Order: sequence, then C-alpha cells, then structure tokens
Amino acid sequence: MKFTTSFTTLLSVLTASTVLAAPVQESRRDIWSPHIIYPHEGTVWQLGARHNVTWDTSDAPANISNAALIFLRKGNTTFSNDTLASGFDLRAGRTEITVPSDFAPGTDYRVVLFGDSGNWSPQFTITQ
Ligand SMILES: *[C@@H]1O[C@H](CO)[C@@H](O)[C@H](O)[C@H]1NC(C)=O
Ligand SMILES: *[C@@H]1O[C@H](CO)[C@@H](O)[C@H](O)[C@H]1NC(C)=O
Ligand SMILES: *[C@@H]1O[C@H](CO)[C@@H](O)[C@H](O)[C@H]1NC(C)=O
Ligand SMILES: *[C@@H]1O[C@H](CO)[C@@H](O)[C@H](O)[C@H]1NC(C)=O
Repeated sequence: MKFTTSFTTLLSVLTASTVLAAPVQESRRDIWSPHIIYPHEGTVWQLGARHNVTWDTSDAPANISNAALIFLRKGNTTFSNDTLASGFDLRAGRTEITVPSDFAPGTDYRVVLFGDSGNWSPQFTITQ
C-alpha cells in the first residue's frame, strides 16, 4: 500500500516535472526590456494626472518586436485590464499616460512596460 502510494506520487511528480520542463518557445526576435527612468523611487503621481513615462533607449536593438504596452502594477497585481498606453514607439523613450482616476491611492505602485515582465519601474506613490 505504502509502496503503491509513493510510486503513484513519484509518477505524478515525474509527470509534473516533464510538463514543467517542456521546451519554452525560443524566440530569435529582438525582445527588449527597456530600463524605466520615470517614474522612479520618490515619484508621486496624482490620480487623473498626465505624465511622461520615460525609459532608456541607448541599448535599443535596430528592430524591436515587442508589443509596446504600459500597465500599472500595485503590490503583486498588474492591471493588465487597464492599458495606460499601447502601440507607441518604444524607440521614442517616452510616452504620455493618464493616471486612471478610479485607482486606489497607494505607495506600492509600479509602471510595467511590456514586452518582458522584468521591466518594472521601482515602486512609487499615487495620491488623490
Ligand atoms: C511629455 O513630453 C513631451 C515632449 O517633451 C511634452 O511635449 C509633453 O508636454 C510632456 N507631457 C507631460 C504630461 O509632461
Ligand atoms: C530590421 O528589419 C528589416 C525588415 O524586416 C530588415 O530589412 C533589416 O535588415 C532588419 N535590421 C536588423 C538590424 O536586423
Ligand atoms: C507578493 O508576493 C510575495 C511573494 O509571493 C509575497 O511574499 C507578498 O506577501 C505578496 N505581497 C502582496 C502585497 O500580496
Ligand atoms: C481592472 O481590474 C481591477 C481589479 O480587478 C478593477 O478594480 C478595475 O476596475 C478594472 N479596470 C477596468 C478598466 O476594467
């Protein structure tokens, strides 16, 4: 009985790791994670205000294939249902956004600039 249980457990572990180890789609496109310059630590935005999100373009590849998208993130939640900007030129280094006026104030906001998920700004504050 014990053996059967362990064996079944082992099997499911093996199956799970096989699934996890499935090859990630390798992409040869120029996926680029721009370093966000603004907002930065100490930034305070008001709800409803307009701001330029800015990022470093000095390491931009010639052909950028990322979808250009900006979201807000609060704590561990990215509000991908509320796009602040999209379709802008990543090579421009900035894009104007409006802070949605229906968001809750907080000190744990970040801006997420897509393509990759790694390109978050530091945490900053949004006030009323
Ligand atoms: C964003 O930057 C552009 C270009 O410098 C400027 O014309 C515009 O007024 C800025 N917008 C805000 C909200 O600061
Ligand atoms: C960028 O893309 C264009 C069109 O696909 C191509 O002609 C050009 O060679 C590419 N440049 C680089 C540096 O990859
Ligand atoms: C965010 O996730 C981390 C790691 O999973 C967790 O420790 C932390 O409590 C979470 N924070 C919030 C605000 O949910
Ligand atoms: C996005 O989702 C959040 C939390 O689920 C919600 O509070 C907010 O109203 C939504 N925004 C839009 C534009 O749907």
